[in-house]
Parts: sequence; C-alpha cells; structure tokens
Amino acid sequence: MIDYQNHTLAVDGVPLTQIADTFGTPCYVYSAAALTGAFEAYRSAFAGLDPLICFAVKANSNLSILQHFARLGAGFDIVSGGELARVLAAGSPADKVVFSGVGKSEAEMEMALQAGIHCFNVESVNELARLNAVAGRLGKRAPVSLRVNPDVDAKTHPYISTGLKDNKFGIAFDEARAVYKAAASLEHLDIVGIDCHIGSQLTDVSPLVDALDRLLVLIDQLAEDGIVLEHVDIGGGLGIRYTDETPPDIAAYAARVAERLAGRQLKLVMEPGRSLVGNAGVLLTRVEYLKLGQDKHFAIVDAAMNDLMRPSLYDAYHGIVPVTQKDGLAALTVDVVGPICESSDFLGKNRALAIEQGDLLAVLSAGAYGSTMSSNYNTRARAAEVLVEDGQPRLIRRRETLDELLANERELLKD
Ligand code: LLP
Repeated sequence: MIDYQNHTLAVDGVPLTQIADTFGTPCYVYSAAALTGAFEAYRSAFAGLDPLICFAVKANSNLSILQHFARLGAGFDIVSGGELARVLAAGSPADKVVFSGVGKSEAEMEMALQAGIHCFNVESVNELARLNAVAGRLGKRAPVSLRVNPDVDAKTHPYISTGLKDNKFGIAFDEARAVYKAAASLEHLDIVGIDCHIGSQLTDVSPLVDALDRLLVLIDQLAEDGIVLEHVDIGGGLGIRYTDETPPDIAAYAARVAERLAGRQLKLVMEPGRSLVGNAGVLLTRVEYLKLGQDKHFAIVDAAMNDLMRPSLYDAYHGIVPVTQKDGLAALTVDVVGPICESSDFLGKNRALAIEQGDLLAVLSAGAYGSTMSSNYNTRARAAEVLVEDGQPRLIRRRETLDELLANERELLKD
C-alpha cells in the first residue's frame, strides 16, 4: 500500500527516499500487495461465476508484473505479437490468452495459433477471412470470438471510448448475426464466443451492463441459428480514482452480471487493465529546478511526458505529492513540468506543493498506461521500474542506457 510513514511516502513500508537512493529517478514503483489486492477484489466479487480474468497487458506489460498476475491465476488480453511474447515469457499458459485488436498481421496470427491461445477476438469480416486462411495453411483451427460493437455510450473521454458506432472497433451490432453465420461457414474457424469493450475509465457500470444485455440478445438469436457460444467476454473499462472520482463498486457490478448470466451455460471472460494496476504504482521523480516567475512558478522535474504521457495526451489528472512532508514549509503553486521541449510537457498544473529544489515527488495512480506508453522522445532513456514485494524493493526493469538508445543506428553510420 502507498501511504505516509513518519512523514515519508512509502510503498509497502519501503520509503520512496530509499528507493530513489538505490535505483535513481525517474522510476516507476509498484506495490505487489496492491496488485494482488486489486486482482483478488475481482476474483472474490465474481467468485460465483468462476471467470477467466484476462489482465489487459497494454496497461502494464512489465514481465515481472505479468508474472505476478500469472501466478495469481490470471489470463491475459493481448493486442500484438509483442504482448504475446511478453505473456509467454512471463510464464503464462497460452490457453489463457485472448487476442484483441483491429489490425492483426498474418505473422501475429501464426504466432498465436502456434502458441495455442484461448481465442482471437475478431473485429472485422476481412480479419475472419485472413484468420481462416492462416489457420488452414498451418493445418490448425482458430478459436474465434467476434468483438461486437454494442453502440452504447461509455460516457468517458472520447479518445478512450470505443463502443460507439463510429469507432473503428468491433463489428456493428446490426451486422453481427450475419457475420457469425458467415464465420460459422469458414472451414478452419471454431466459433467459441462473443466479446465487447466499450471504453475505459468508466465510473458508471450501467453502460457496461447495457452492453452485456445487448450481447445476450444476440447470443439468443445465434442459438436459434444453431450457433451456440461457450463464452461471453465483457471487456475491461472499470475506472479508478485519480482525484475525486468514485470508482464503480466491483461487487455491485458482479452482482448485475451474475443476475444476467444466471441459468445460462456461458463462461465469463473479462479484460480489466487500469483497475488492476493503476493505483498500484507511482512515478517517482526529483525536482531539478524550482523556477519562480512573475506570474507563474514551475517545478522542473526529471520525469517528463515521454515517461508519463497521459497528462499531455488526454489532459489527464494525476495527483502529485511530495515524498517528504516538510512541516512549516509554505506551499507554492507550481506547474510540474519535465525537461522536454514542448509546452505540453507537463505532469500537473497549478499544484500547491510544499517543496524545495532537489526534493522528490510522487506522481500518483501511474501504474496503468504509464510505463507502457513511454517513449524515447528527446533521446531520453526510459525510466527504471521497481516492484516492492514483502517489504523488499526489486528492480524489474533496468533504466535504459544511452548505448542501448543509439545501438540500432550507430552501426549504420557511413564511414
Ligand atoms: N480490452 C480492450 C479490447 C481494450 O482495448 C482495453 C483498453 C482494455 C480491455 C482494458 O481497458 P481498461 O480496463 O484498462 O479500461 N491509454 C488510455 C487507455 C486506453 C485504453 C485502451 N483499451 C489511458 O491512458 O487512459
């Protein structure tokens, strides 16, 4: 858990000052106990349904985090061959993996068929045809679920809303029945399920339940057509608290899902990402400079938009707190910004912080879509990652070196 102990912010009892001394900054720090707690919250809420909880790897794909979830019994939702490689390297059995995404390449399909994944969440007619051909060529059968777009409004940020008609995702609800029939006629496919994912950071579960209701209508129509599905995948999307949001109650959501699945022979699959990792991690950074202006003050820190892109990209809010609480120090209102040459390089704006130059800050709720969305912009080496487990901090990703950053180009220089 992440809390203050003796005026110092600590992760599972380990002071972040100690982690900064040992591993340097910027650095992502995760709590294993928080990861386990979030997973167990799902497992116990949905216990009666014995679901396959597939962690959405895009939220945090560090191998040690994937290994942690695999050991808890999680499955995984992947969107690329790269994510499949990660999940297998982390020790997950392939048959707990579902493969989402609108643009699967032939090579990715081959890789997933050879590995023997649980199913492909297929998003278009042309993808079905390609998958059928690839499976035929390999002498395999591809397990298929169709991602249906239920056309419900997730009421979240437009960039992370995916279930509306004009999104690129999924097969239109009105067309889905016909596409299932076409899929059933393809020789190398096994039709096993149906799925949807309507958006992310939802604070109200009603749209999720509405989407499930729509899928159930379709499931019944398909049964009339002789297509009997084995599973329904309700996607991910549950929001977390970044500031004052009230995250949905998982148990209440589970109860509504259970009510709808009662009496049906349908296995439940789900794909949570953010809600399993978001509040299990912080981005630890040091104030390089305090820059006091006439109208505005800045805390220039050693983390930047390349490390945590969410504020720049979505104007997302992340809490930012001093690692050491200093009594008697007056708070200053600052924009917390990075060293990158862009005005959008900020982690937080107008924050009242009692800090001095050289102090450590923790950017909160950074466990999801933080490290995974990082880049090398401005030739900045990506941050280290540390997992605290049973009171012991462990490096789970080395800080990149400049040699590594140059390696793919240096040997290609002209003589
Ligand atoms: N399943 C599918 C098919 C998805 O596309 C996603 C997320 C998830 C599951 C997991 O959703 P979650 O439980 O994490 O809401 N970069 C954005 C979020 C993009 C989400 C994309 N899809 C952010 O930083 O807010």
